[in-house]
Amino acid sequence: MRKLAPSILSADFGKLAEDVAAIEKGGADLIHVDVMDGHFVPNISFGAPVMKCLTGRTGLPFDVHLMIENPDSYIEDFMTPQTEYITIHEEAATHLNRSIQHIRSLGVKAGVSINPATPLYTLDYILEDVDMVLLMSVNPGFGGQKFIPSVLEKVRKLAEIRKTGGFNFEIELDGGATLDNVKEIMDAGVDILVAGSAIFKTEDITGTTMKFKEIIGR
Ligand code: DX5
Ligand code: ZN
Repeated sequence: MRKLAPSILSADFGKLAEDVAAIEKGGADLIHVDVMDGHFVPNISFGAPVMKCLTGRTGLPFDVHLMIENPDSYIEDFMTPQTEYITIHEEAATHLNRSIQHIRSLGVKAGVSINPATPLYTLDYILEDVDMVLLMSVNPGFGGQKFIPSVLEKVRKLAEIRKTGGFNFEIELDGGATLDNVKEIMDAGVDILVAGSAIFKTEDITGTTMKFKEIIGR
């Protein structure tokens, strides 16, 4: 089943629980949690305490995207009964295999992410160990940026590699998704779509979530 993971980075933090209830009502599958440290990316977002405040207030699972240096030191912080995925960046992990095993040892799905200019071959020796590959379609750090179209080719190649290699990971895409390009993105082979500003910066968050879901579900 293809999934929609709205990113709360673009939500109104003053009424976060309300915004999350709106995407839940619209049929969102996951809550995408964008954690930024001001080092790996040039912006600071929020940390585990904010995410933990949502635990129990929503039935949706968390899809944690760590855009941070030294991810190993913080993985446990993001463990809650609702955490389904924890994703770290290949560019930020010195011992990627160890970090992925660490995440899996906690009983959650492990994801690896790469920036738009990072080649797929950097993942050659980790694909069999991950549950998800997150392809960035903007340079990470900010919501509301323009989609980088060359990532579609990367999605297609990765889907092909998965097929020929007999791998099982899901493919997630993050950044610049809108109602106008979502069909093209999903057709390339995406399993989980992240959308932030295109959902939370609209008047009708529930209605927009439903529109995304309608296209993704096809
Ligand atoms: C970028 C984040 C994305 C971002 C997506 O650093 O990882 O999840 O919030 O936001 P939009 O959909 O607005 O590009
Ligand atoms: Zn993200």
